[in-house]
Amino acid sequence: MELDTPAYTFVPLREKDTALVREWLLRPQVRRWWADDPDEHDYPEGTIREWMKAVRGEDPTDMFVIHLDGTPIGVIQSYRVHDYDDYIAQVGPLEGPAFGLDVFIADPALIGKGHGPALIRDFVRQGFDRYGVDYCVIGPSKSNTAAIRAYEKVGFRYLRDYREDDTIDPPHVLLDIHRADLV
Ligand SMILES: CC(C)(COP(=O)(O)OP(=O)(O)OC[C@H]1O[C@@H](n2cnc3c(N)ncnc32)[C@H](O)[C@@H]1OP(=O)(O)O)[C@@H](O)C(=O)NCCC(=O)NCCS
Repeated sequence: MELDTPAYTFVPLREKDTALVREWLLRPQVRRWWADDPDEHDYPEGTIREWMKAVRGEDPTDMFVIHLDGTPIGVIQSYRVHDYDDYIAQVGPLEGPAFGLDVFIADPALIGKGHGPALIRDFVRQGFDRYGVDYCVIGPSKSNTAAIRAYEKVGFRYLRDYREDDTIDPPHVLLDIHRADLV
């Protein structure tokens, strides 16, 4: 069967995906934005340890491998923002219960082709139902203009600047979207 439009699916990350995601995290365009914890001296192992805690249910983040027409192309994670008091303390008060997400596409050949906005749109729609909320936020580094552009195409709007003090690049922006504004 030929697919006219790309189909994105989000498959829960498993412990056996470790080698795949390690290789992805080491790719320059991923590492540029994900190796941002100054206390993680063994990147990507610290990141993978955190992810696998989530896979085992020891952390409330939900981890997924993004599939494009059945082929794994990246990682997306989401979480109820109110499960993370330290994050709320950094981003400031929110108008109500929200979920947040983080994402990367691993294949440089797939960057800048509109896959990000399209898959994030699908993921956010599913997230509203998964978490039973109508509000979603995302907090990219202020210098990640490509990511911010991609999020705006989904309907995310600038909410405020904030500082993520536990990263190598503290200036961040918080963008938000309501269910009704999903483009
Ligand atoms: C962020 C990301 C998911 C966006 O998805 P995408 O499919 O690349 O998004 P788009 O195709 O809409 O491109 C978004 C912007 O990237 C920029 N861009 C286009 N081609 C590019 C390329 N080859 N390389 C880098 N940036 C490019 C453009 O500014 C584009 O905006 P425009 O279309 O208005 O000009 C993806 O780029 C990615 O995974 N990047 C690496 C990891 C990362 O930054 N994650 C986000 C951390 S918050």
